[in-house]
Amino acid sequence: MEQACLPFPLTLKQSNVKLKKEIYLLLTFVLLSFAGQAEDGYDLWLRYKTIENQAVLDKYRAQISGYVVEGYSPTLEAIKTELNNGLSGLLDKPIAFGSPFGKTGWVIAGTPEGSSIVAGLNLTEELKIVGQEGYLISNRKVRGVNALVIAANSEVGVLYGTFHLLRLIQTHQPLDNDFTITDSPKIQHRILNHWDNLDQTVERGYAGFSLWKWHLLPGYIDPRYVDYARACASIGINGTAITNVNAKAVVLTPMYLEKVKALADVFRPYGLKVYLTARFSAPIEIGGLETADPLDPKVQQWWKDKVTEIMTYVPDFGGFTVKANSEGQPGPQNYGRSHADGANMLADAVAPHGGIVMWRAFVYSNEQPVDRAKQAYDEFKPLDGTFRKNVMVQVKNGAIDFQPREPFHPLFGAMPKTPIMAEFQITQEYLGQATNLCYLAPLFKETLDADTYARGANPGPPRALNSPDLRDPNPTERPPVPQSPLPINRLATVAKVVDGTLDGQAISGIAGVTNIGNDRNWTGHPFGQANWFAFGRLAWNHELSSAHIANEWLKMTFTNDPTFVEPMREMMLTSRETVVNYSTPLGLHHIMGAGHHYGPGPWVSKMSRADWTSVYYHKADSAGIGFDRTATGSNALEQYTQLAAQVWADPKTCPDRDLLWFHHLPWDFKMKSGKTLWEEIALHYQQGVDEVRQMQQKWKEQQSTVDKERWEHVNMLLSIQEQEAVWWRNSCLLYFQTFSKRPLPKGVEKSDKTLEYYMDLKFPYAPGRG
Ligand code: GCU
Repeated sequence: MEQACLPFPLTLKQSNVKLKKEIYLLLTFVLLSFAGQAEDGYDLWLRYKTIENQAVLDKYRAQISGYVVEGYSPTLEAIKTELNNGLSGLLDKPIAFGSPFGKTGWVIAGTPEGSSIVAGLNLTEELKIVGQEGYLISNRKVRGVNALVIAANSEVGVLYGTFHLLRLIQTHQPLDNDFTITDSPKIQHRILNHWDNLDQTVERGYAGFSLWKWHLLPGYIDPRYVDYARACASIGINGTAITNVNAKAVVLTPMYLEKVKALADVFRPYGLKVYLTARFSAPIEIGGLETADPLDPKVQQWWKDKVTEIMTYVPDFGGFTVKANSEGQPGPQNYGRSHADGANMLADAVAPHGGIVMWRAFVYSNEQPVDRAKQAYDEFKPLDGTFRKNVMVQVKNGAIDFQPREPFHPLFGAMPKTPIMAEFQITQEYLGQATNLCYLAPLFKETLDADTYARGANPGPPRALNSPDLRDPNPTERPPVPQSPLPINRLATVAKVVDGTLDGQAISGIAGVTNIGNDRNWTGHPFGQANWFAFGRLAWNHELSSAHIANEWLKMTFTNDPTFVEPMREMMLTSRETVVNYSTPLGLHHIMGAGHHYGPGPWVSKMSRADWTSVYYHKADSAGIGFDRTATGSNALEQYTQLAAQVWADPKTCPDRDLLWFHHLPWDFKMKSGKTLWEEIALHYQQGVDEVRQMQQKWKEQQSTVDKERWEHVNMLLSIQEQEAVWWRNSCLLYFQTFSKRPLPKGVEKSDKTLEYYMDLKFPYAPGRG
């Protein structure tokens, strides 16, 4: 490293930070291993290849010649490494570190506290608004020299700003005019949930095995852990729950805590806190107690002691994610206690250490005759106001289970006294797993932008439920303008519930179930990376549009060439709707294959519980199809505010896309298009197939723009996707036709296989089962 030739005396703080040797070694490894990798997707969006546009390259080269980062700490070393790799890679020239502080431009990164140069810039006022994780990037003269300043109140803020600056360069944004960008996250806890098991399998994971090599930890630290943390930090993710929600108590034993510590030590410089999943019965299983009753003082003490013990390994341990009394997991109800009793007990254990509890609301019981979609609300809504301050209730985006489309969960907006986290699924359990190209930002945005109407009617133009994801007409990095055409302060969107601004919550959080595994390209499908990226970007700023995020990702991951970016952005933006069309159009849901959830299974009728079958959800019969959730049926609608519910309540006003979620309708029900329901179902399935074929065509047109390796990978996967779309269409139409008894409308291709053929397909080793 070039620390010998610094331009300024480094007097601030440098000596009191002891940098761990291992971290140094890992950072050096990342530095050295940067050069000469194949285009195999490993580099994700942090692909610092030379800027291909000569004019843009020349401009940046003239503007940037070196960087200054004063001081030493693991985070500062990470910043130096990133600036060195990023700038020298993108600009394809050696980038000086520290000296000489000559005539051309410098990147100066630091906090006022740790850097004498930054301190001299008098940024105190400007930095006040960015908080602990935000930052400022500014082009200004420093000691007579042009400089790009990255300043923040914390080192992690500087790291986030560093990634932002590199993103500006990667996406060819102009840096030459005077400008100042300030940015800070809208949501406090931005967390990945790994459903990773201790045997390295990943529940609902389709990209290989877990990244965490439990057996080799803590002795062997895979350099990949650093790259994982870099990727998370680059999009602002600041927490990771590293174990499956279907938890094993053994992870809380000393043997495993050693391993957790090793991971936490690697992640810490990148601002990434570690969380664990708590198995509620752990006091019995590993603590030798006879009960796990949350009101039993011995149990309470056991958890307090356990957390104190965890803190000795991981001093900044973030807290617990908990799945309790859900799908067979133990919980407080085993002892006749409520979810609040359970959550509060754990909250009291982590509170002295500043920890939080993320208590999941994904609960439903087979014994309950009540519509599964209603059960979480019934269970949690009465508990509003009874949770400790450091508990957040973690709510899936919809009331069933991460389906290709779900109306927003009725708990959003219904518990004003409780911080509500949103939980999204980045891994595509129900959206084509890792064989389908499906960009999820539009799904995330659909939920986040939905108005709960918890503040009554909106002024302004009439607005469909779940506003369409508004697109940037001209997506560029700056300025990040709000996307809504309505006065933001009058909306009670899910996003405002989640970021805590609607009800003035003291804490806020968002979780994404990851799609990451040990596949070389991390996510299996090369475009799966975009979903990890999009989750992080939206967790940081939910006002960004899907188009904006797609633009960034495409440019950073592939090329800035507009003949690639524009058509690919359009392809990404429609890809989720395409998956909906060929799998669960018009509000259909939960009709996938049993167990593995791979492919169609509308015929699934025999499972250990009724609410795991498909027939429970589609209710197809000779009279029609769909789940009546109006007052004549389960009345799930009553769980929404009246304004939200009223549009859904009437099939005439209910948007087509949610129709069969809320209504059981006759096959010849007249749709808004004038066609019958049966015809629309069939045409949507066909449209989905047609759209995949168009995607294939669009991708083929990019053969000369994309590197061979990634082009072929995506091309082959698109062929699989086309076959899977046909499989979904044929299976569902053949099956539903046994009830509708109607011919396929014109334009819908006939299946070349029988329904029995599809029903007999078996996938004993399909990946991702728990
Ligand atoms: C889905 C998924 C399970 C998972 C569960 C959860 O049902 O199929 O594998 O455990 O969600 O969110 O807890």
